[in-house]
Amino acid sequence: MKESDFLIIGSGIAGLSLAIKAAEHGTVTVITKGQPIESNTAWAQGGISSVLPPGLREDGDNCEKHVSDTLDAGAGICHEDVVRAIIEEGAETIDELVNWGVKFDKTADGDYQLGREGGHSQRRILHSKDTTGKAIAEALIAEAEKHPNITLLAEHFAIDLITSAKLGSVTEDRVLGAYVLEEQKGEVHVFRSDRVILATGGCGKVYLYTTNPDSSTGDGLAMAWRAGATIANMEFVQFHPTCFYNPAATGAEARSFLVSEAVRGEGGILINGQGHDFVKDHDDRGSLAPRDIVARAIDHEIKRSGAPCVFLDVTHKPKGFMKERFPFIYETLMSYGHDCEKDPIPVVPAAHYQCGGVVTKMDGHTSIRGLFAIGEVACTGLHGANRLASNSLLEGNVMARRALQAMVSHYHTGKESLTDYEIPEWRAGDVADPDELVVIYHNWDEIRRTMWDYVSIVRSDNRLLRAATRLRNLRKEVRSFYWGHRVNSDILELRNLVAVAALIVDCATRRKESRGIHYTIDYPEKRERFEKDTVIRRF
Ligand code: FAD
Ligand code: SIN
Repeated sequence: MKESDFLIIGSGIAGLSLAIKAAEHGTVTVITKGQPIESNTAWAQGGISSVLPPGLREDGDNCEKHVSDTLDAGAGICHEDVVRAIIEEGAETIDELVNWGVKFDKTADGDYQLGREGGHSQRRILHSKDTTGKAIAEALIAEAEKHPNITLLAEHFAIDLITSAKLGSVTEDRVLGAYVLEEQKGEVHVFRSDRVILATGGCGKVYLYTTNPDSSTGDGLAMAWRAGATIANMEFVQFHPTCFYNPAATGAEARSFLVSEAVRGEGGILINGQGHDFVKDHDDRGSLAPRDIVARAIDHEIKRSGAPCVFLDVTHKPKGFMKERFPFIYETLMSYGHDCEKDPIPVVPAAHYQCGGVVTKMDGHTSIRGLFAIGEVACTGLHGANRLASNSLLEGNVMARRALQAMVSHYHTGKESLTDYEIPEWRAGDVADPDELVVIYHNWDEIRRTMWDYVSIVRSDNRLLRAATRLRNLRKEVRSFYWGHRVNSDILELRNLVAVAALIVDCATRRKESRGIHYTIDYPEKRERFEKDTVIRRF
């Protein structure tokens, strides 16, 4: 058994921001599956939104405008107090990241170079070229590795939370730690702590086509669900409008490379095969409308025309502009044989961001005592029915700060309380090694295809029902596979993926209206009685 004052699961911006701060108050264990750099954070391109102090921000910008843009994107169900609280800490977040070594791009005058993205009425996105996430992730990992109070364990996969409810006799439902698979050795250990923080990111891999890395399998959300935490708004899965459409590549790779929204912020325009700026037919803001509108407009255009993709045109930009401002995108497209300065970029939407998640208060505390959730895994109320671009890196860092304040003040339960609980040994399934890996891959593929075909940008009651029926069968199969074999990370991810897929379908089925990124042909309008979160709980 391993004990620490803080047990953080996940090494993205949320988990590492918290680790670095928490290390001033006690011992911190950060566990992460795979390598610490494998996270959505490291893949972020566009940047981090923040209203800087007067003199450093764009003329006319202020926090109220950022709040208003966020509420507008969120389509009526953002929690305004949360939106305001997070946005007001934007400048502090930038200072903190800079102190930890992140270098944001500056103009020749030494001011921050501010970008713009869909739904933002002003330029307020700080960035490191088009690899902002990599700059942040590398700086945070380096900072965490320096601190003697932080133990950062790679290839440690959290399987399940340990809560007092598991012990059967205790009335207070609180977290006690987690069961963790040491991936290399195949051994399961108990990690014990009275403050456990889920910072496990999102669940993009639930869909066949996604911008997310392989690690985004919704593990934290599934663990929280199994432990009985309150979950909300899982129907709101955001699709990014512009992923490179590359039929020459095979499988999911053909649609997963993101072309940042910041490219549209710098003048890129979405056009159809005839060169028409079709998004303008749906919204006056055209290519810079919020993502739900742009993704739906593309979906509509592709279905209307029968074409496999639309195009993002930057050929009118001065020669060398893309290479200088978006070097990663430019070079990656070149490596696929596409010169974006000569030809418009073929693009399609793909699953990108989980707006719902484990419900938390403004301090990151969940419905289970001692359990916190921060970053993409959480549902704080910031995003409502559709996240405003570049608000998530901001949220991850701000919520780490708020959660720490809460943990060191009111949620410190004292070590002695932990000794009151006898932690049950890990209950393994059968010890047989999975002999038929094909079952895992087949189920994995079927879940992702089901979600893509029936639960993506445009939904209907009928499609959701079909998805629910298929997922019910898949869950049974996965459950028996899970209990019948020795655990490994593939089986664990499959178990989480099918659980999260079912939660998305469940929430989507309950919302009998169209709002933000949840659009159904059966109820194409917003309805007042659904102007609230979709809240679900297992027990
Ligand atoms: P992540 O950064 O995803 O970190 C989660 C960590 O948890 C990972 O280390 C993972 O390995 C670990 N983990 C997961 N499950 C387990 C488990 N069972 N056991 C142990 N460890 C586990 N947002 C912006 O604001 N601006 C952008 O420009 C931007 N661009 C993006 C571009 C791309 C291509 C993508 C995919 C996302 C982008 N986003 C952007 C979204 C943003 O990157 C994420 O929402 C944010 O980084 C999430 O941070 P996080 O710390 O919550 O999770
Ligand atoms: C992008 O760069 O387009 C992604 C921004 C985001 O998801 O916030």
